[in-house]
Amino acid sequence: MERNAKVDAVILAAGEGTRMVSSIPKVLHPIMGRPLISYLVETVATFANRTLVVVGRGAEEVQQQLEGKALFIEQPNRRGTGDAVRCALPQVESPWVLVTPGDMPLVREGSIRRLFKAISHQDVAMAMLTTTLDDPTGYGRVIRDSSGVVAIVEEAEANEEERKVKEINLGVYLFKTDFLKTAIKKLTPSKAKGEYYLTDTVAIAREMNMRVLAEEAEHHWEGLGVNNRVDLAKVEEITRRQVLETLMLKGVTVIMPHTVYIEPQVKVGTDTTIYPGAFIEGETSIGSNCTIGPNTHIKDTSIGDEVKILDHSILEGAMVEREAQVGPFARIRPGTVIGEKAKVGNFVEMKKTTFGKGSKASHLSYIGDATVGENVNIGAGTITCNYDGFSKHETIIEQGAFIGSDTQLVAPVKVGENALIGAGSTITKNVPPNSLALTRAPQRVREGRGMIFLAKRKGKR
Ligand code: UD1
Ligand code: CA
Repeated sequence: MERNAKVDAVILAAGEGTRMVSSIPKVLHPIMGRPLISYLVETVATFANRTLVVVGRGAEEVQQQLEGKALFIEQPNRRGTGDAVRCALPQVESPWVLVTPGDMPLVREGSIRRLFKAISHQDVAMAMLTTTLDDPTGYGRVIRDSSGVVAIVEEAEANEEERKVKEINLGVYLFKTDFLKTAIKKLTPSKAKGEYYLTDTVAIAREMNMRVLAEEAEHHWEGLGVNNRVDLAKVEEITRRQVLETLMLKGVTVIMPHTVYIEPQVKVGTDTTIYPGAFIEGETSIGSNCTIGPNTHIKDTSIGDEVKILDHSILEGAMVEREAQVGPFARIRPGTVIGEKAKVGNFVEMKKTTFGKGSKASHLSYIGDATVGENVNIGAGTITCNYDGFSKHETIIEQGAFIGSDTQLVAPVKVGENALIGAGSTITKNVPPNSLALTRAPQRVREGRGMIFLAKRKGKR
């Protein structure tokens, strides 16, 4: 459905969230890296003209996180969901109000659409979403008679018979604004908790001889809310599986999917294979025909086609161009660009480095604050000494250069095109193009000294 000028959305997020046992407001706890409230904010935005979020505890933090995506209304005292809606009502201008809790991130657009369909061909006071849960403990129970829904009874107020009901209220409603304004005034504090329950509006509608419609959510799991951290883990697990299933249906192979974590916003191309234990987060995109090896951690990184990220590699804030290979055991830090067909191998760390097309650093190196041209070969154990204790300095290695193993490049320093550095050198001055530089101490040989040494050792024993 298109954004609807006839609907305002109200999201309730002022609750204490006591059961989270946390200093962070409940609705800001993350599901797959994003505050859990942001899922519903996004979903209701497809239907509503405006979104109003009722905030209370941690109001400032919640507002900060949702900046620009909603208007905020403070609920001064947390006296229940009915009271929260009462605070928002003066701001509601549209003839219909979509009300949702902030702690039900699994509610889908398709289910909410059912409410809109339901009200379009009948004159009703309200329509609500329900589902059936094997364990309905803690949720409001939907009480029906032959004529339909007559009431919602909260767990704390329910009798034994009512507690057996497995049909629960998701807390997602579409109200006719006129009705809601009247009904809110009629709410009275509940017996057991003394709270104003929004759920009592159902019974009020019935008393006023107005129709209440109950629509089933598309999936049972949409009824799982977050009240404590066990729920948080369950909801995240469902989200995680859905992300992987979506990727798999779009042509990504995932091996042992129960071990793989990929955030919803991550893009992965077709025929890419993701191995067990991969953890992929943030603004990451991965091309087609890639291999993402076991136990890799990739964050905010853009990866081209046909790239191999091998076992136990960590990449953050980097870019890897097509057909490059990284790892195993590589650490690629922010600001690094690894060029096409380049190879960064075992135990290599790179930071803020541009590593040219076809270049290789295959083993045990630290390359930081460097610009490396095309087809450069960096021998095992090469280190850019980029930090002098005060500031960072740049190393430039031009195309075609060959850096022998165990070289230290003391920055700022530049190695010219096609230059050759002998193994074990400490380079402190610029090396001109096409030249050989080496600082290695000459090897001395004393004939026979080995025998004397051996004899001495034998005498000791
Ligand atoms: C509520 C429903 C219950 C439903 C369940 C579904 C009521 C009385 N009960 O119960 O029928 O099955 O949701 O998830 O509505 N909030 C405020 N201000 C308050 C109290 C709560 O803004 O004074 C907010 C909370 O931040 C939360 C939402 O309203 O996002 C629901 O409150 P919560 O206390 O979690 O209600 P439940 O007991 O889960
Ligand atoms: Ca809840």
